Amino acid sequence: MSRFAEPQAAAFQALNSSVAFDQRLWPQDLAGSVAHATMLAARGIISEEERDALLAGLTEVEGELRAGTFAFLPDDEDVHMAVERRLTALIGPVGGKLHTARSRNDQVATDVALFCKETADALRAQVTELMAGLVALADAHLDAPLPGYTHLQRAQPVYLSHHLLAYVWMLDRDRQRLAFAAAQADRLPLGAGALAGVSFDTDRRMVAEQLGFSALMANSVDAVSNRDFVLDLLHAAATCATHLSRLGSELVIWSSQEFGFVVLADRWTSGSSIMPQKKNPDAAELLRGKAPRVVAHGAALHGVLHALPLTYNKDMQEDKEHLFDAVDTLALCLAAAQGMLDGATFDTGRMAAAAADDLIAATDLADLLVKRGVPFRECHGIVAGLVRTAVESGRGLGELSDAELEQQSPHLDPSVRAVFAPSSWLESKISEGGTALPRVREQLDLARALLET
Ligand code: ARG
Repeated sequence: MSRFAEPQAAAFQALNSSVAFDQRLWPQDLAGSVAHATMLAARGIISEEERDALLAGLTEVEGELRAGTFAFLPDDEDVHMAVERRLTALIGPVGGKLHTARSRNDQVATDVALFCKETADALRAQVTELMAGLVALADAHLDAPLPGYTHLQRAQPVYLSHHLLAYVWMLDRDRQRLAFAAAQADRLPLGAGALAGVSFDTDRRMVAEQLGFSALMANSVDAVSNRDFVLDLLHAAATCATHLSRLGSELVIWSSQEFGFVVLADRWTSGSSIMPQKKNPDAAELLRGKAPRVVAHGAALHGVLHALPLTYNKDMQEDKEHLFDAVDTLALCLAAAQGMLDGATFDTGRMAAAAADDLIAATDLADLLVKRGVPFRECHGIVAGLVRTAVESGRGLGELSDAELEQQSPHLDPSVRAVFAPSSWLESKISEGGTALPRVREQLDLARALLET
């Protein structure tokens, strides 16, 4: 025996073993085994006594797992082997009958599908809760103006309610993607065996029903090769995490001294060790920082599955760490977003002052000229000229004299001054989906109705 044999055996085990991370699938694994054993007996493939022994043993294993007294051993390659080893130790050789008409290939696909279904539903519930929080916040800040930005330059003012509701629609799309991922995981792989089906007259529909799957994977080769539902869940998670990163980023910007639009609760921030005046928006920064990690997990699994010949290959064991870390990270980010919004205090005075810079009325002034028959391109030039005069002389647009207005265009008589009133810039946006208050109220009703779905 080569003197390298032992370290090599250890390295192989470290590489090959998945029990360290797949042990969290034990609830799904046990549920699958209970349904499988029940079906085997119903079809006369095992006896009722054997079934009873298996179910009693599985209950005991479950008790140990639940209590945390189940001992995973270094030789357990994965959760499936660990459960079967312990079952057989508890009830004797009959434990070996559980794996009749089953392979770890259809078993693991089933466990992961069950996990994805449950997790997609749980994430959906969390997203709905965050949407409800945003709707409440929008309701509480219905008519608080702040500047809307493009290129992070002040563009046009909007109401905070309007801005916050944008996230509600983004999150609703996330819910739809999560629901799609759950539906994709809703077909039972078990019964496919290693890849070709099994040589027993099994009842897959009975197993599906007991496990809560709505349908069967129709092709055994596809059943054990498929991890699309994991990709779907990772994609839904990636987009949702990306949405939260934009929220996090806005909270970072808004809570800076320069903006001062929001004060975050102390429990979601940290102090600086050497600068006592500082309050760092760590949690909001991490909403930004965590998103690419979720996205990367999806990219990595695409890499694992890329060009992989059918059917099962050990590469597919790599699905789990990517899946688990992505959904755990997203769950954490959703909780943080919820908590931060919960404890956030908006400084509506600071926001209104920033939105009151009347250079922001430039678009409205241009629109007014359009309504007076001037072609839009020409209006753009006229208003740009006014903005230049105002900025160069350190004044607001409203501070320009009647003569200066008329000089740019004969259409700019003193009646145009109405557009310089801050509320007019907001209330002029009357198009459906716009920021005028009646439209925001409409939108709020739609958002509330979404929460009921
Ligand atoms: N631990 C394996 C996985 O996660 C389970 C399936 C193993 N199947 C096999 N034929 N080796 O993919």
